[in-house]
Amino acid sequence: MARILIVGSGVVGQATGKGFAAKGHSVSYVDINPQTIATLRAAGLTAMTAAEVRWDEVDIVMLAVSTPSVNGKIVLDYIESAAIDIGYGLAQTSSYITVVVRSTVPPTTTERRITPILERMSGKRAGIDFGVAMNPEFLRAVSSEQDFARPWITVIGTTDRFTAEILDLLYAPFGALIVRCTPTEAEMIKYVNNVYNAVKISYFNEVHAICQHLGIDSRLVSAAVARSAEGMWNPLYGTRGGVPYGGACLPKDTTAFMQFVREHGWEHRMLEAAIAVNEHLAARVPAAASPDQIEDRLAAARRRDEAAARGEVLAIEVGEQEQIVL
Ligand SMILES: NC(=O)c1ccc[n+]([C@@H]2O[C@H](COP(=O)([O-])OP(=O)(O)OC[C@H]3O[C@@H](n4cnc5c(N)ncnc54)[C@H](O)[C@@H]3O)[C@@H](O)[C@H]2O)c1
Repeated sequence: MARILIVGSGVVGQATGKGFAAKGHSVSYVDINPQTIATLRAAGLTAMTAAEVRWDEVDIVMLAVSTPSVNGKIVLDYIESAAIDIGYGLAQTSSYITVVVRSTVPPTTTERRITPILERMSGKRAGIDFGVAMNPEFLRAVSSEQDFARPWITVIGTTDRFTAEILDLLYAPFGALIVRCTPTEAEMIKYVNNVYNAVKISYFNEVHAICQHLGIDSRLVSAAVARSAEGMWNPLYGTRGGVPYGGACLPKDTTAFMQFVREHGWEHRMLEAAIAVNEHLAARVPAAASPDQIEDRLAAARRRDEAAARGEVLAIEVGEQEQIVL
């Protein structure tokens, strides 16, 4: 069983700590807020400031401090300050500690900002003297402990095999699909996850408004589409990227519905953006008539880009009836 130190003992930190404690690990908590420390202690948990940690007694650090946005820009001061404390801690022990970033941070933060701080403060090297991973959390605040206990996915971002194996063992008992990737991929997965959810909610808010204009029940429409649209129930539908939508229906129906909405003086900004994005991409890559053709078309576009980079003019077969000629 591992000795786990949670640094940043708020919603994510506590759900993480309680979840691992329930699996038999020894968990202690660090925070900068004295009230949080007092509350955790009153609940019978081990909580302290970073200065009080005995680093010889730590196997894994879970970094779950706040990363708020101010004026739209993420504030990394808290996580960097916590990384400085952990770096000092690493310097105080000869044990191998695995440092796991759980906070939501922009892609590249773990590799370009957190790891260098840990190395500078400790005088040690990541991947050799200590491990680093980015392991985003997908829980919702309203159901944090249940979500942590029953994850639907576990993403382990590390370039270091030993760290990956430690985290595989730690998370295996939770039974979720484990995705192994780099720290930057893990950070990207977390942002794309949240942005996708935000886009979906915004989309259906616009659907709701149009249904209200039409005097029809938006909950019926949305609930039916949640079952009718393949993009809803086939998780990989539309996710490959790099190829615009095509075929007999999507281009004509998106533009026709946009026109219908405009003629009534209503708004559908999500659809407007979707059409603009598709047209922009279609100017470069031919649309996919069916998802099966996507790989062929991606490969063709890649070959064309490589040829263009070499300054070559290239004709590429992309399908039975089409050719892209540069
Ligand atoms: N709340 C969620 O539903 C949720 C879900 C997934 C991911 N996240 C991400 O997880 C991270 C933590 O979110 P949260 O909701 O648990 O935040 P929170 O505000 O509830 O907790 C963060 C804790 O970190 C502490 N802290 C700040 N600086 C510190 C430092 N230098 N050393 C030690 N502790 C420090 C704060 O005092 C606070 O107790 C954020 O990056 C957030 O985006 C949150």
